[in-house]
Amino acid sequence: MANLTIRNLQKGFDGHQIIKGIDLDVKDREFVVFVGPSGCGKSTLLRLIAGLEDVTSGSIELDGREITQVTPAKRDLAMVFQTYALYPHMTVGKNLSFALDLAGTPKAEVEKKVAEAARILELGPLLERKPKQLSGGQRQRVAIGRAIVRNPKIFLFDEPLSNLDAALRVQTRLELSRLHKELEATMIYVTHDQVEAMTLADKVVVLNGGRVEQVGSPLELYHHPANLFVAGFLGTPKMGFLKGKVSRVDGTGCEVTLDAGTTISLPFTNAQQSVGDAVTLGIRPEHLELAKDGDCQLKVVADVSERLGSDTFCHVRTTSGETLTMRIRGDLASQYGETLNLHLDSTHCHLFDAQGQVIRKALQAAA
Ligand SMILES: Nc1ncnc2c1ncn2[C@@H]1O[C@H](COP(=O)(O)OP(=O)(O)OP(=O)(O)O)[C@@H](O)[C@H]1O
Ligand SMILES: [Mg+2]
Repeated sequence: MANLTIRNLQKGFDGHQIIKGIDLDVKDREFVVFVGPSGCGKSTLLRLIAGLEDVTSGSIELDGREITQVTPAKRDLAMVFQTYALYPHMTVGKNLSFALDLAGTPKAEVEKKVAEAARILELGPLLERKPKQLSGGQRQRVAIGRAIVRNPKIFLFDEPLSNLDAALRVQTRLELSRLHKELEATMIYVTHDQVEAMTLADKVVVLNGGRVEQVGSPLELYHHPANLFVAGFLGTPKMGFLKGKVSRVDGTGCEVTLDAGTTISLPFTNAQQSVGDAVTLGIRPEHLELAKDGDCQLKVVADVSERLGSDTFCHVRTTSGETLTMRIRGDLASQYGETLNLHLDSTHCHLFDAQGQVIRKALQAAA
């Protein structure tokens, strides 16, 4: 079993608070990803869990046992770093067995565990090589192998793929997913790459400025972001945002007049909302399309298009100077400078209040 419970965890360096009170539950066999911009505290949070940093306050429990003050070696956790941290003078085999040898594990058991890790990670032919004779991807597999032989309760990964080239990243990402299933392991994985977060995680924890912005499954966060930060952080290309003001409110929803010159009725409102409130409407690239007669229309001017083959991303600009991206079929593209009429489908729009918090439901629907 591996259930991790974090309560009101805080960490400061030199009087600067970096982790500002985090509560989090990681369940047995879950793949949890910490994602957020550079400097938001992802590595610090992982290092607090690993015991590589002392907490300022708060508690960390593993399977009901408080481990906040327990030394890293006694936490039953194994960390894999971005920089691999292999012993350069040791062979791959020795790198894999070193921690077990050090702990006095019987030789036969060490050999069995190393052989098993080598099988899972296809390292068998490389066991006699030194790290400098390996590619970046192979080195990273050795680093993961070193964690596997220790049979930890939880694997902790800090950006393990960032030194790999794009193709190898995708391949290793798949291998990690497979490994998670095969080992039935509990994993916590840090990345600033939202594609890695979306593809690997059972549960994504979006961090920003030392706080948790939202926790949920990848699709929950994608379809129901709790605030502007999460909405803008997950998804490539990003969600487009249009500023506006509430021009009517009733029990079933509200009407927003956008700075871009269109008025749209939306099926959401909340008790605090009133006419004149500043709001931001969000819409994802796949939900923007060319308008047909009678649709709610938004006049935009086409900027450049990016043709990816499978899709085309048309970047467009509204009359108010805001930019949006529209995803269309790969065999189509807009002409630079042409005027387009886009359709805003209210069922696919998100609405955020002046504080950036989502406004989700009509009052009647919510009741
Ligand atoms: N040992 C330390 N002493 C002082 N400040 C630190 C220390 N470690 C981290 N910090 C600061 O804490 C903040 C969070 O750092 P952290 O490494 O956790 O960020 P991160 O989210 O992992 O970023 P990145 O994506 O760039 O790796 C940063 O402002 C960093 O400068
Ligand atoms: Mg980091």
